[in-house]
Amino acid sequence: MDLYEAIYKRKIVRDFKEQIVPDDILEKIINAGIQAPTHDHLRNWEFVIIQDKKDKEKVLQFIKKGVEPQLEILKQILVDGTLQQKMYAIAMPRQYSMLYNASHIILPFFKSNSGVMNPTSVSSLNPISSIWCVIENIFLAASAEGLACSMRIPVGEEGLNVAKTVKAPEDYLLPCYIGLGYPADNKPFVGQIEYTAQQKMHWGKW
Ligand SMILES: Cc1cc2nc3c(=O)[nH]c(=O)nc-3n(C[C@H](O)[C@H](O)[C@H](O)COP(=O)(O)O)c2cc1C
Repeated sequence: MDLYEAIYKRKIVRDFKEQIVPDDILEKIINAGIQAPTHDHLRNWEFVIIQDKKDKEKVLQFIKKGVEPQLEILKQILVDGTLQQKMYAIAMPRQYSMLYNASHIILPFFKSNSGVMNPTSVSSLNPISSIWCVIENIFLAASAEGLACSMRIPVGEEGLNVAKTVKAPEDYLLPCYIGLGYPADNKPFVGQIEYTAQQKMHWGKW
């Protein structure tokens, strides 16, 4: 698939078919991830892959499932809300299922340093900036394979708890969970605010 086609087809998907991604495709996608630019030349990234349902339950146990009381409000938002609110209304109730029902959960870890959690400039965040290049490569490679990804950012202690559960070294952090799989045919349409490049380009000055 042409790169531009993969870019335009890439969408965050939260509903998957019950179909397992073959190991060679998974490996190809991780390989695309580690071609990303790296701030320190070292590519200090590691990937924990979870496929077994029991292992998924262990890793996902820290995701709060407390959206049930809000479901009626969320349904109303799906009718009346702005595009952004509608996206939340689709995404929130799926935070667990969009990972559990994916063929694989990929946990991308990056080696942290003292600057990441106490930044004094944008460059203090280089380790996290680099892993996000990796993550986007994974998304695009998945798209090129006809697959899709879900993603969740761990909140509060969630990431540290997941890292402990999978026995990651203490200096490695989890920027997000990635669910990888075949998108379901009946997934809801998530509208997006559309922009053109011309609306975003500022020639010479803002
Ligand atoms: C930094 C970042 C954090 C995000 N966090 C979440 C999340 O916690 N849960 C979720 O379901 N989606 C999350 N998303 C996905 C966005 O909701 C999604 O990218 C956005 O709605 C645009 O849709 P698209 O990626 O399909 O174009 C996140 C995306 C980014 C870049």
